[in-house]
Amino acid sequence: MKIKNICCIGAGYVGGPTMAVIAQKCPDIRVTVVDINENRIAAWNDENVEKLPVYEPGLSDIVKEARERNLFFSTDVDSAIDKADMIFISVNTPTKTYGIGKGMAADLKWIELCARQIASIAKDDKIIIEKSTLPVRTAAALRDILDNTGNGVKYQILSNPEFLAEGTAVQDLLNPDRVLIGGDIDTEDGLQAIQSLSEIYERWVPKERILTTNVWSSELSKLTANAFLAQRVSSINAMSELCEKTGADVHEVAQALGMDSRIGSKFLQSSVGFGGSCFQKDILNLVYIAKSFGLNEVADYWEQVIIMNDYQKRRFANNMIQTLFNTVSGKKITLLGWAFKKDTNDTRESAAIYVADHLLNEEAEIVVYDPKVETEQIYSDLDYLKSRSKEANRQSLKVANNPYEACKDAHAIAVLTEWEEFKHYDWEKIYDNMLKPAFVFDGRNLLNMEELIKIGFVPKSVGKPE
Ligand code: NAD
Ligand code: UGA
Repeated sequence: MKIKNICCIGAGYVGGPTMAVIAQKCPDIRVTVVDINENRIAAWNDENVEKLPVYEPGLSDIVKEARERNLFFSTDVDSAIDKADMIFISVNTPTKTYGIGKGMAADLKWIELCARQIASIAKDDKIIIEKSTLPVRTAAALRDILDNTGNGVKYQILSNPEFLAEGTAVQDLLNPDRVLIGGDIDTEDGLQAIQSLSEIYERWVPKERILTTNVWSSELSKLTANAFLAQRVSSINAMSELCEKTGADVHEVAQALGMDSRIGSKFLQSSVGFGGSCFQKDILNLVYIAKSFGLNEVADYWEQVIIMNDYQKRRFANNMIQTLFNTVSGKKITLLGWAFKKDTNDTRESAAIYVADHLLNEEAEIVVYDPKVETEQIYSDLDYLKSRSKEANRQSLKVANNPYEACKDAHAIAVLTEWEEFKHYDWEKIYDNMLKPAFVFDGRNLLNMEELIKIGFVPKSVGKPE
């Protein structure tokens, strides 16, 4: 079937960039991205593309090119569903915060709402695509909802998980390692649906990188990919502590490992801990699924990746306190970076939130500087933890819009996001205006330690000999 009209439900970090690229590459297909969040849609439609709700290098140019040509952002979900031949579901699937599976299982209420809305609106046959990351076998639940409306509409359900990473979303979408399409490979209709989606990607992705599997393999591959990636970070972070104790240097160890082509060099950067909306949520979801099948050893194995990551964040903050003569009470501490990684304004599960919370519990006076994150976002991240009152958070943590101002009179600086610009600051000037000894805790191993030492700083990095 030749696709003419695409609807994407969910205009977030995945829906927005993914559909922008599809619209750019397929000018003959009308792509409508819908969301119930009116502010988000208004921001996607803002004439000033600097105000797009998602910051991603290269994205604003693509949106500028395609918007109003064949890319539309709207709150009219019903109408977009009605007109579409193909519907991507790209809504949020966060960890459940209530009831059975609380703190572990994925909350699928938004997915189910989408399915019910599609079922109530659709008058002609549609291909439904799971773009969100979902527990394995969710497609069966979608099918149950969609097939029981009695209106005779036929649906094909495909799983097409997204592997983009934030900060490199546009590059990842333009040049993906692979596109995974799971579908009903045993029926003619299923194969045709897969073909229709594949033809869209084939406009810019080499055919050999488009992989077709059954639906369950596709759903499970997405969770597995994130679990493997996160496991690498936890593995190198586990070694970072051993490096600190033994005189080994985690950077050198990672280099030695990475040159083994069986291991590979990527994702071996030791850090203050991984963040982001997905690694933790997807592993917890995997753990929950394994437990629900009684696979306790499998569940424990993967849960350890999260336990290690929580430990690394705590260890980083405790190390700061210990180095600052066992107390940070009343001391000004500057956090450079709040986003969970560079080149994004996303702060979900950022290690910075947990480091700040830990230091605030010890009565530190914190100042945060991040080049892309809004002040209100920082406060809302902290408030969400409910560790103290909103007033107390605003009293003890301030947000600066100038890095030099942020670092003035600080006892210590912690680098928590690897923003490129941090490397190029005038560190002599920062040193001159700090209290001495001037401590720098580099949670990203970003800065040049030798230069900092020459200036007079006392720098500490993750996984380097003490
Ligand atoms: P997001 O929270 O940024 O966006 C989801 C959007 O869906 C929100 O704007 C929300 O208002 C909207 N929404 C929810 N229910 C709706 C409904 N019934 N009708 C219309 N709109 C609705 O989430 P995201 O980061 O884009 O992630 C979406 C999914 O993609 C998740 O399952 C996530 O695990 C997965 N994923 C995310 C990334 C990433 O880098 N963020 C990468 C790969 C996969
Ligand atoms: C990750 C995956 O890389 C994507 O493939 C996947 O699509 C996405 O999750 C998702 O499902 O949401 P993302 O979370 O955007 O992407 O960013 P990553 O580059 O994976 O980084 C995740 C976290 O790990 C960041 O906090 C990053 O700083 C940290 N990290 C990463 C390290 O500490 N060390 C590394 O070597 C790599």
